[in-house]
Formats: sequence, structure tokens, C-alpha cells
Amino acid sequence: MFDIIGQIAVFKKGQYSKKQAIDFILKNYSKSVKSIFFESSKTYSKFRLKKYMWVWGEKSTETIHKENKLFFKLDLNKVFFSPRLAYERLRVAQQVKKNENVLVLFAGVGPFPITISKYSKAKKIIAIELNNSAYKFFLENIKLNRCSNIEAIRADVKKILNSKKFCNWADRILMPHPYGDTKYLKLAIKCLKNEGIIHYYDFAKTKNWSQTVFNKIKKQLPKNCTLKVLYSKIVRDIGPNLLNVVFDLKIKKLK
Ligand SMILES: C[S@@+](CC[C@H](N)C(=O)[O-])C[C@H]1O[C@@H](n2cnc3c(N)ncnc32)[C@H](O)[C@@H]1O
Repeated sequence: MFDIIGQIAVFKKGQYSKKQAIDFILKNYSKSVKSIFFESSKTYSKFRLKKYMWVWGEKSTETIHKENKLFFKLDLNKVFFSPRLAYERLRVAQQVKKNENVLVLFAGVGPFPITISKYSKAKKIIAIELNNSAYKFFLENIKLNRCSNIEAIRADVKKILNSKKFCNWADRILMPHPYGDTKYLKLAIKCLKNEGIIHYYDFAKTKNWSQTVFNKIKKQLPKNCTLKVLYSKIVRDIGPNLLNVVFDLKIKKLK
């Protein structure tokens, strides 16, 4: 398995020899790919980073990835980025209605907020990311894509949600959680207006993923709220028997 991120081809650990990877890329992607790296570590740190081993071509891990006609500058060694979420970002952006306030938690280098900014008529998008490198690329990407309605905040999501700064502010909240840290739904609902949409991302084993995640959601739901699942699907495989999934939730707060 491999991904093309900007002008870099990234191969999963131990699946191809260096020669096989180079031959394959030169045969199929010689015009667009300038370097090849192998993943050389598992994902580590709460910033969901990986280490990479250089195999061929230019040695820099910085690149500009093009997706949905938008540009995302990033450094593989310093930030999380998955090109496999391209369709998901567009799917969500196309649901955003005119004049919505949108809150994006765990924003990374900005692909969700920037796609929403360019593919909807949202009034304001607030997006939060803790990794300083990702935050800096996010600011660059806002400029690169000429977005005027995004405010990027470098902060811990938990602190922002606890501060009540955006209490009852959002029409829609995106929660593309990092793996292993998916307990913010209750706090996030406080930022939602009396009625709103949450795009809740989680991880689950393949068997019964839908029921498993739905149970987790129900457990986190405050008593004064009703919940309707509008849509759910597998977003991507992230390992053998491990899925990244999304639930679109309509939440109503009862008075
Ligand atoms: C799964 S990635 C999603 C990134 C981005 N939404 C995307 O699609 O590329 C999770 C992101 O959350 C960030 N993060 C992890 N813990 C955080 C926290 N407590 N507060 C804010 N951001 C955090 C990580 O640095 C990472 O960029």
C-alpha cells in the first residue's frame, strides 16, 4: 500500500523492497513524484506523527498536496496528514449551509476548515489545533487558498471546550479525533446551538463497528439532548481489523 502526498510517494513498512518501490513509481508516476519514502515507525505522540526513511529522489519531507483543487503545505515528519480523507472533507463541506458557524476540532494543517471555507458559504469557521508545526502550516494554507472566514487557534481542544468561549455558538461541529482520544462529545455539545450537527469520527474494530460506536456516542450524550443519526460510514481502514468511521449526528437540546 502507498500514498501520494504532494510530490512524495509514501510506502507502508515492509511491503515492497526499495527496488520494487522505485521501479513502480518511475513506471507509473515519473512526472508527478519527486521522492520516495518508507514509513519507518508506528504512529507516535498525540500529534499522530510517523518517522520516514528516505528511499529515492529529493530528501525533503516538505511538500504541497493538491486535493479538491486546494493546496495544503505540510511536512510529513512534523504533522498528521492523510490524503485518503479527500472525499470525506468534500462530503462534509458540501453539507454546510449559508451563514453557518462551524467549529472544527483537531484541525491539523487545515484541510477540513479550508475545504469548508472554499466549498460553502459558512459565515465563520473556528478551527483548533495543538501541534505548533501543524498550526503554522495551517496559517500558511489559509493564505495559500485565500480563505477569509477562518480563525485558526493553537490550543488544546479540551481547554477551549472547557473555557466555554464558544458556548452555544456552532451550527456544526467537526470532531476528527486523534486515535485513542475520543472523549470530547459531551463538552463539544455545549458549543452547539440549541439544534445542530456534529460530524463525529471514531475508531472501531471491523466487527459490529456501527453498534460499537453508536453505543459510545449514546454513553456520552447529555441527558437533556436528543440524538438522530443522519448518516454513518467507514471513512478509511487504518490497520488490520481497525476502521476510522464517521457518524453525522443531529443533536437537539431540550429546554
Ligand atoms: C487525526 S488528526 C486530524 C487532522 C486533520 N483534521 C486532518 O484531517 O488532516 C488529529 C489532529 O489533532 C491534533 N491534536 C491532538 N490532540 C489535540 C488536542 N488535545 N487539542 C488540539 N489538537 C490536538 C493532532 O496534532 C492532529 O493534527
